[in-house]
Order: sequence, then structure tokens, then C-alpha cells
Amino acid sequence: MSTTRSVVIGCGSYLPQRILTNEDLAKTVDTSDEWIIQRTGIRERRIAAPGEFTSHLGVNAAKAALADAQMEPSDIELIVLATSTPDNTFPATAVSIQAGLGITQGAAFDIQAVCSGFVYGLAIADSLLRSGTFKRALVIGAETFSRILDWTDRTTCVLFGDGAGAIVLEAQQQPGAREDRGVLTSHLRSDGRHKEKLYVDGGPSSTGTVGHLRMEGREVFRHAVAMITDVIEASFKATGYTANDIDWFVPHQANKRIIDGSAHKLGIDPKKVVTTVDRHGNTSAASIPLALAVARADGRIKPGDLVLIEAMGGGFTWGASLLRW
Ligand code: UT7
Repeated sequence: MSTTRSVVIGCGSYLPQRILTNEDLAKTVDTSDEWIIQRTGIRERRIAAPGEFTSHLGVNAAKAALADAQMEPSDIELIVLATSTPDNTFPATAVSIQAGLGITQGAAFDIQAVCSGFVYGLAIADSLLRSGTFKRALVIGAETFSRILDWTDRTTCVLFGDGAGAIVLEAQQQPGAREDRGVLTSHLRSDGRHKEKLYVDGGPSSTGTVGHLRMEGREVFRHAVAMITDVIEASFKATGYTANDIDWFVPHQANKRIIDGSAHKLGIDPKKVVTTVDRHGNTSAASIPLALAVARADGRIKPGDLVLIEAMGGGFTWGASLLRW
């Protein structure tokens, strides 16, 4: 029986121009290129220019995704922005992106699930499209983590970067069969008992300041692979697919060791793993759509491919989606 699915019809990204290398960082904090590469796989990251906000990155990524989809801004009814680094406490940065694109219809809002934000945003947009509430959505991950880093803390400042990625989703009738294109399943989790392992030490209601990112890196690392495996196994169980069926595994890009460890534990062929952490660092909610855009632009991801995405981060939050491109 035919069914409505949210199909990806476009994908794009945007990176700020300025590149900050590990060598650059070693000039300001007690670190080294060798330590950063060995522990994380990161070689460089991008840093937004003064006056360049999360909304600006998001608008540029959205424009690239719309061009890829051959759609106009007026074709979009819903904008879901995943970010933990909004331009302002309110309004939602999504409305700045909406205005930046010249869209005056439909709805735009932010969601906040830190590094898992894009998976959460995709699941929310998918539900709103499948319910018939909207026909086409932009799901965007955009971050300027450089603005919330403590640049004197070598345990965190070497890890993160700025950037944005976006996809255009369209509600389409699909046969309701194994070959269906679109989002096939999503699994979202959180466990607030871990909230102090990765957080920002400020906020409008607590300190009245923006604050800086704080992380017990080893503790996050310790939980990451098990949590990632949990939601991916749930995705396989819900769809009947297995690791062998996956064409591309596009994980959140936090640490190459976590990515490789998860792929190994799940039995996913390393050749199917899309890794961009070396060039982007950890861009939180932007990392998955940035990696999708890279793998789409270089011809790896093709229509009909089975793509698995997953993320884990502050909260803790974690989640996975399985989609056929
Ligand atoms: O996206 C959200 C999710 N976040 C993550 O997934 C991050 C998860 N955590 C990690 O990726 C890793 O835990 C880190 C990359 C943050 C750290 O790697 P690690 O292998 O867990 O190192 P560690 O924290 O155990 O630190 C090892 C040593 C320490 O020195 P001692 O105590 O052994 O003397 C640190 O002080 O490395 C030291 N260290 C550094 N040395 C040079 C910490 N940061 C640095 C640095 N440069 N930047």
C-alpha cells in the first residue's frame, strides 16, 4: 500500500573561509598537531568571521541545498534549524534564516539537541511532512561553536569548528515497499543524568551570560559507542536492514576513533564510512549535513542509496535515522 515518505531532494553546505590548523592552535595553547591527529583525527577546522553569524552560515547552506533541489525559497513551507549556537537567545535563528531566504509562509523554528540536533530535526520534519502538515522542508544544522569555546582550554578548543549543512525534504508518495525512497525510520534518545558531562556554563536563565563549553571528554567517549550502537540496532530492527545493506554510513563527526569504533562494532565496511572530521572538526549539529553534502558532491551518495546517520552528544542525547536517498 502506498505511503507518504520524506525524500531528500537536495543537499548543500557552507563553510566559513578561515581555516584554523592544528599548528595554528599549537601557537596559542599547549598542544601539538601530533596529539590532536592521534586522539581525534582532526587536522583543521573553519572559524566564522567577525560579524558572520550562525544564521548567515545557515542561509548559505540552505541556498546551496535549494539550488541542488532546483527549488525556489517559495517552495519551502517548513524550516527546522538544529543549533546550539543561536544568533540571539530569541527569536529562533530559523526565522532569521527564513527572512534571509525571503520566505514569508509556513513555519520556522530551532531545535536544540546539541550534536544530535540534525537527527532530531530530521525526525521532527519527517513527522510533519508525513502527517500532511507541510509539503517541503529545509532541515538545517548550523553552528558557530568558536563563539562558545574557552580558547585557553586545550581539552576542548582543539575539537570544534564552525559550519552549516542543509537538506531539502519533500513529502512524496512511495510504493510502501522495501525500495521506498525517503526517511525509513528514526530513533531518538536522551538521558539527562549525564547533562554535566558536556554542557555550557552559562545561559539566559542561570547566569545571564552566554558561557563556555565544558566537557569531560573521557566520560563522553566512554558512553559514545554503546549509545550509537543502541540506536543503530533499533534502526535495523525496525526496518529489517542489516549493516551489509548500508551503502553509506554518515556519522556525527566528533572523533575518528569513535567513528571507527562504532563502524567496527556494527560490522560496517570502513569503505562505506564518510569521514570529514579531519577537515571540519566537530561542528555539532552541522556535522552530518556537512558530511552528506561532501559525499553527495563527490558522487559517493547517489539516488537510491541506503544511508545511515547517527549522532551522540550533550544531554546526553543520541539518535539515528535510516533513509533511502
Ligand atoms: O560531539 C559531542 C560528543 N563529544 C565527543 O564525542 C568527544 C568525546 N571525547 C573525545 O573525543 C576524547 O575523550 C578527547 C579527544 C576529548 C580526549 O581524548 P582522550 O584520549 O580521552 O584523552 P584524555 O582526555 O584521556 O587526555 C589524555 C592526556 C591528558 O594528560 P594526562 O592527564 O594523561 O597527563 C590530557 O591533559 O592528554 C592531555 N590533553 C592534551 N594534550 C595535548 C588533553 N587535551 C590535550 C591537547 N593537547 N589538546
